[in-house]
Amino acid sequence: MSSTKYTAPHMMLHWLMAVAVAIQIVFADNMGAAFDAKLENIEIGTGWTTGAIFHALLGATIGVLMLWRLGLRLTTDIPPPPESASVIQTVSRATHWLFYAILIGMPIVGALAWFIPSDSLAGVHDIAGKVLLALIALHILGAIYHHFIADDKAVLRRMLPR
Ligand code: HEM
Ligand code: HEM
Repeated sequence: MSSTKYTAPHMMLHWLMAVAVAIQIVFADNMGAAFDAKLENIEIGTGWTTGAIFHALLGATIGVLMLWRLGLRLTTDIPPPPESASVIQTVSRATHWLFYAILIGMPIVGALAWFIPSDSLAGVHDIAGKVLLALIALHILGAIYHHFIADDKAVLRRMLPR
């Protein structure tokens, strides 16, 4: 049987993670600076600045929460896709699965880049960050499209508690 709304844990994780990912991206350049210093051997001590510790801890938390969310996604009912052109449904489904892949993959690649340390893995992590930004923009545009242009208010409401 398909439900009409996401379950409470799924909603809670969605909005908690939206905030966590936004904070992670806004402050990511602190980690970028710490990593550059580490590569150039100009760091003091282990290379862990406060900004780098914050980035690693929040990033690891995002990865764990996303794994939890993937578990929920695979084991609980979610609402059926809204009625829209098949190309919109395909883009939306691809965006969602790419979010899972990137938000689980980025912490792993980021940690490897830091601990090895590896400039090329840092490059992969950087590109993933840019793809993530593009996906977030697309995702928000999609929500605006459904809500205001297609006038299908149910799409946003099923991710909201009331
Ligand atoms: C989903 C979680 C994560 C997101 C969204 C994320 C995002 C980013 C972004 C956007 C940058 C580029 C910063 C800049 O130079 O402007 C960055 C850099 C970096 N992050 Fe993460 N990060 C995450 C998790 C982690 C974790 C867990 C680590 C482990 C230590 C890590 C290690 C690094 C390192 C070493 C850099 C500098 C190298 C580079 O410029 O790519 N990241 N991160
Ligand atoms: C970093 C920010 C965000 C991330 C990573 C994210 C991630 C996701 C993911 C992975 C899903 C799919 C859930 C699933 O079925 O498995 C989803 C659904 C959804 N998100 Fe976001 N989201 C973000 C921000 C937002 C924002 C700002 C809005 C509102 C403007 C929003 C509105 C929605 C809605 C309405 C759905 C349900 C779509 C549907 O049922 O087809 N999200 N989000």
